[in-house]
Formats: sequence, C-alpha cells, structure tokens
Amino acid sequence: MSKVTVVGAGRYGSTAAQRLAELGLVDEVVITDVVEGLPQGLALDMNQSRYLERHPTRVTGTNGYEETEGSDVVLLTAGLPRKPGMSRMDLLEANARIVTAVTRRVAETSPDAVLIVVTNPLDHMTTLAAEVSGFPRERVMGQAGNLDSARFAHFIAEAAGVDILEVEAITLGSHGETMVPVPSLCRVRGRPLPQVLDAATIAEVVRRTREGGAEIVGLLKTGSAFYAPSSAAVKMIRAVLERGQMMPVCAWTAGQYGVSGVYLGVPAWIGRGGVEEILELPLTAAEAAELQAAAASVRRFADELHSLAPEGAAAG
Ligand code: NAI
Ligand code: 2OP
Repeated sequence: MSKVTVVGAGRYGSTAAQRLAELGLVDEVVITDVVEGLPQGLALDMNQSRYLERHPTRVTGTNGYEETEGSDVVLLTAGLPRKPGMSRMDLLEANARIVTAVTRRVAETSPDAVLIVVTNPLDHMTTLAAEVSGFPRERVMGQAGNLDSARFAHFIAEAAGVDILEVEAITLGSHGETMVPVPSLCRVRGRPLPQVLDAATIAEVVRRTREGGAEIVGLLKTGSAFYAPSSAAVKMIRAVLERGQMMPVCAWTAGQYGVSGVYLGVPAWIGRGGVEEILELPLTAAEAAELQAAAASVRRFADELHSLAPEGAAAG
C-alpha cells in the first residue's frame, strides 16, 4: 500500500493533499496538524469529493503520527508563512522549532521515507530536517526550484508574448535573495532566451522571479502562495513514486559546481531513492559565480541555524 503524509494542513499542505488525492497516485494521503479538527475536517471534505472526482485515494486527517506510519514520502509544510514585509529569514527561529519537532516524529514513524521539505527558510529548514532525521542525505530534499522555475517561465512567457507551455525555464541556488535564475539554459519555442529577449528585459524577468514570492505575499496580505507551490511539491512526489525525472531541487552537494557540503538548489534526477544524481549542466561563468555565492550565503546562515537547533530540539 502506498502512502504519502503531509505535515501541516495549512494552505500549502491542504492544496498539496488535494492535488495528490485527485491524481489517484497513492492509496492513502495522511494529513497531520497541531490544530484540532483541521486535518480531520479537510480529510472528511476531500473524501466526500471522491464521489464526484472518482479517485481511489483515501484521505486521513489526524493530530498525531500513528496514522502516518510507514509513509513512502513525507511532505513537510508545517510552519509559519510570511507576512507582508517579512523575509523568509524572519521565519528562521519559529520554524526551526517546528521543523525539529515534526521531523523527529516523522523519522520515528516513517524511517524509510523520502522527506520533502517546503517550510521556509527553505534551504535552512531542509538542512535542519536532514540533521534531525539522520536520514541519508539523498532521502531529504527541499522544494523551491520547481516553483521558482515556474515563476520564471511565467514571466518569460509574458515578456516574449508566447504561451507558457512553449517556455523551458530553470532556476538554481537558494530560495531567497541568492536565487539563480539561469537565462542561458532557458528556451522559448526551442530558441535560447538571449535570442528572444534583450538583456534589459531578461534582467527584469530575473528580478521579478527572485521577488516572485514576496509579490504574492504583498497581494494576498495574509499568507503566501500555495497553488504553484503545491504543484511544485507534487511534481517531486510523482518523480519519486511514479517515474523518475530531472528537476531543480534543494539537494546536498558533493563537489558539483564547485560546491560541497551544503543544501542548495541544483538540477537533479529525482526517483524512488530521492536525489539519485546531481547533474552538472553548462552554466556561464557569471551564473556559476552566482551559484557559488548562493552556496556561501546558505552556509553563512548555517551557524545561526545550529545555534537555534538545541532549543528547537527541546520542542520535540
Ligand atoms: P499556513 O499557515 O497556511 O499553514 C501552516 C500549517 O502548519 C498550519 O495549519 C499550522 O497549524 C501547521 N503547524 C504549525 N506547527 C505545526 C506542528 N508542530 N505540527 C504540525 N503542523 C503544524 O502556511 P502555508 O501557506 O501552508 O505555508 C507553510 C510553509 O511553507 C511556510 O513556512 C511557508 O513560508 C512555506 N512555503 C514554502 C514555499 C517553497 O517554495 N518552499 C512556497 C510557499 C510556502
Ligand atoms: C514563496 O516563494 C513564500 O517561499 C514562498 O511563495
């Protein structure tokens, strides 16, 4: 029996659970959250929609972890989202405590799972979940690259006046200020992006992509984006459970792109084992330098994270 657990029944978690259930890819989706009644109510609602959607996936809502036992994949969305004006780093302390607590429970109940982290600040929470779980690094990865690439593709399509499905786009680096959208690897109707848009337009598209999350937070005013983010996570889950695929994910680096020993957004082959291979795509010198700067930035905050971890561990 295949099972996916979604930790956190907020906007991201509930939308991801619904998308997964409607795909009919797994036998059971379990949603767990600390708020009493919330995951149970969502599960009841989603199960009733099965009569209309005709999908085979059962949804279970719980405030515990017993029901999550033996999950194949665990999607970790528990934590606070951003408010207008907040950076992802403002979330570091509160979310480190939550991620530590929930990762401990997940590691006990689903020791063989692939763990996909989305809680922000993403690169740091992925690092923390890997350390707390003790899982092999390839079984712990973070979601950001699929989302940031989708935003990049959207802005490219708008600027070039084409349909988004005619665009291929990729972003690497961190899920933050040192995000690295990679114009040299983007294609519009098969043509390299620099042949389609001028340098100033590409620079503007890159800027809007980097600030894509904040733009939506500013518009929504309460909470952050969840439709494209949940699609991005479900794409990773499908690659693990259905068919392997190449995509940008936050993965543990081991020398690729001149970067080692840090969680960073890189292109990887995702499959049943999690991150099965990190791929080294050709980057321009400027893009490679940006990626190394992103790695240095994530590493700088690792010290801050480690000073918070013992307190977080106490919350478990
Ligand atoms: P939300 O506020 O709607 O939901 C968060 C849920 O986590 C709440 O239901 C809350 O009760 C639950 N929670 C808190 N502590 C918990 C615990 N100890 N155990 C279980 N559940 C717990 O927030 P939303 O929009 O769902 O976002 C969740 C996280 O995902 C945030 O940190 C947000 O910044 C991040 N995010 C990351 C993205 C990415 O690309 N990596 C994109 C969008 C959001
Ligand atoms: C986003 O990029 C806030 O990380 C979240 O939408």
